[in-house]
Amino acid sequence: MHFSQLFVALLTAAPADCQLDKLAKAAGLKYFGTAVDNPALNNQQYMRIARDKDEFGSITPANGQKWSNTEPSQGRFNYGSGDAIANVAKQTGQLLRCHTLVWYNQLPGYVSSNYNRDQMQRIITTHIQNVAGHYKGQCYAWDVVNEAFEDDGKFRQSAMYRAMGIDYITHSFKIAAQTDPSTKLYYNDFNIERCCNAKINATLAMVKTVQAAGARIDGIGMQGHSRVGKSPSKRELMDTMARFSELVQEVAFTEVDIRHTKLPTTAADREQQAKDYVDVVGACLETPKCVGITIWDYTDQYSWIPGQYPGEGEACLWDRSYNKKVAYTSVASLLQSAAEAGLRGKAVATPAVDVGEGGKVTVRTVAAEATGVGR
Ligand code: XIL
Repeated sequence: MHFSQLFVALLTAAPADCQLDKLAKAAGLKYFGTAVDNPALNNQQYMRIARDKDEFGSITPANGQKWSNTEPSQGRFNYGSGDAIANVAKQTGQLLRCHTLVWYNQLPGYVSSNYNRDQMQRIITTHIQNVAGHYKGQCYAWDVVNEAFEDDGKFRQSAMYRAMGIDYITHSFKIAAQTDPSTKLYYNDFNIERCCNAKINATLAMVKTVQAAGARIDGIGMQGHSRVGKSPSKRELMDTMARFSELVQEVAFTEVDIRHTKLPTTAADREQQAKDYVDVVGACLETPKCVGITIWDYTDQYSWIPGQYPGEGEACLWDRSYNKKVAYTSVASLLQSAAEAGLRGKAVATPAVDVGEGGKVTVRTVAAEATGVGR
């Protein structure tokens, strides 16, 4: 049999036993995770899947740990929303990706007053010491600083930046490291996926500067919000992660959702979405330092996209009625094939993934081709 026929014969439809985290771990990743938001906690149908450790090895509070929730007025801390999600992880044994300590958005008004450097430094110190202190030992990772740049690579003129310049980032990482020394400290942003734009270059320069100033940054999180048919190719994603990997010990996709810009969708749109998701997961699998993938909620029922981008949506792996989409089966098939082929960490591991009719996924691996099987 010619090798190409052999691999067509290996066509994998949805694996029978196809929970994402189980497959991701078998393929060599640390986790496959999802964001969980507080309103979903009392939805039993939602929680059955969210708590399934084989499906999601990690959860991230979509909002619960943000500044507006944890320190809504100065010096008054409230952990109700964050704890509600952290407690799920405690009960199930899922990892908790903690999100986020210092961000320009969802920030109470008092933080944006005109403070001088010392005042802002104290505000940040107090916030991080309390919040990261409260969650000490519970977080696999913390998104210490989120979204510091504009798309053109200029620093966002946030209240923190206005008061302290880049030092607010260095300071935040130092305080986070002192407060919870064993959690992984991440810088997290969007539009830093497609290699190599101004924002990526600015991120690389910032990480170098902050590290040179003596602060520890362990990871860079690429949020991974994108649009069907317009999302970065696997090659672009891998090139970006290779550059980040030179500076930090791990990288991850932290908030993946791939939204349709035209609704309702056609079968072709849904297959394109599957291919786009497969590119993200494939890029992570083939990047030695990529530890995992978090989707920014798993069902369209709780996706933030329609609220943020009216007219767009259906960005998740499950639809709003909890049916798995072709994107789900494609991702599961890719993970399963990667696990079977032992692809992870191999230099030659470049599976070509084709999503065909009805969402069937063909995975050809260079590693296997190189053996000349069947030739
Ligand atoms: C979003 C939440 O999902 C929404 O519920 C909220 O209204 C706004 O924030 N980048 C981030 C996330 O880092 O915190 C954002 O989450 C999505 C974009």
